[in-house]
Amino acid sequence: MTETAALARASTLPASWYRDPEIWERERHAIFAKEWTLFGREAQFPAPGSYLAGEVAGWPVFAIRDRDGALKAFHNVCRHRAGPIVWDGEGRCDVLRCRYHGWVYDTAGNLRRTPDFGEAEDFDKARFSLFPVRVESWRGLVFVNLDADAAPLADWIGALDDETAPYPIEDYRFHGEVVHEIACNWKTYVDNYAEGYHVRDVHPGLDREIDSGAYEVLLKDRYAVHQAPQRSGASYTGLWVWRFPTLALNVYDDGMNVERMVPVGHDRTRLVYNFFFRDTSEAAQDRIAASLAISREVTLEDARICEAVQRNLDAGIYEAGRLSPRHENGVWFFHALVRQALAA
Ligand code: FES
Repeated sequence: MTETAALARASTLPASWYRDPEIWERERHAIFAKEWTLFGREAQFPAPGSYLAGEVAGWPVFAIRDRDGALKAFHNVCRHRAGPIVWDGEGRCDVLRCRYHGWVYDTAGNLRRTPDFGEAEDFDKARFSLFPVRVESWRGLVFVNLDADAAPLADWIGALDDETAPYPIEDYRFHGEVVHEIACNWKTYVDNYAEGYHVRDVHPGLDREIDSGAYEVLLKDRYAVHQAPQRSGASYTGLWVWRFPTLALNVYDDGMNVERMVPVGHDRTRLVYNFFFRDTSEAAQDRIAASLAISREVTLEDARICEAVQRNLDAGIYEAGRLSPRHENGVWFFHALVRQALAA
């Protein structure tokens, strides 16, 4: 069936998929344990022993730069009684010492010491290494993957490498991170991101800037490029792209915004924006502030509508709806990828 024919018949995912903790549990394993997930920036690991700890869809994970300068990553779970090896956030350590009873691991994950443990029988330390996690970098961004058999990150990035090639991403300076907590399922937010149909009604300010009626989403290999003409007639030179399941890159000639839609359980989504600018001098501060203010306004508008939609999905009167063949090909594409992952 062609894309046009499929879209003409397309319906949304069932409402239950947006509220059912069992679906979320299936997504954790079928999607988030298999896809590469943006975890941080290379700059957050400036020296041997620099680490960053956080979560990937409920799995506590940390990455650390070892003595040879390589990045390593592990589940942040001690093999004794599941204590944390490092506390969440950034830090630096010389040895990986569990925060609970002090078992010591090296940066290859091997269990080295078990202080004051006593004489346990049949206890082979070699069988109690940290659980490894894959970690690789792309253009200064650090990704992790829980699946030992996953294809390399370069394959996952795929054609996005060529799409972003014209932009000097490595020259952009990190300006700051902005986090928004939204009371909705991660798919509710991604659905909203995947179409420009709502721009006219939800984002009046943005609608004055772009011609939302001509908004287009171009479907590619597990990613989608968004385009909308400027009402001013100025040509749009940036790249506005979403990569399944939860990564978005807004890249411009003078900076970029890297967006993660981090699922926090079945009913909460944490939006994490990392803003980068080419020029962070004093002279550029007004322009940066204006750019951040626009992002905040649009995000708050999105958060408000997504939380309202989630309440209605939770309420139980609505089961599923039809998708606009003109405007919602991105939603259909996203839903197809979710269905495919859960069917596998
Ligand atoms: Fe790590 Fe006990 S849980 S040393």
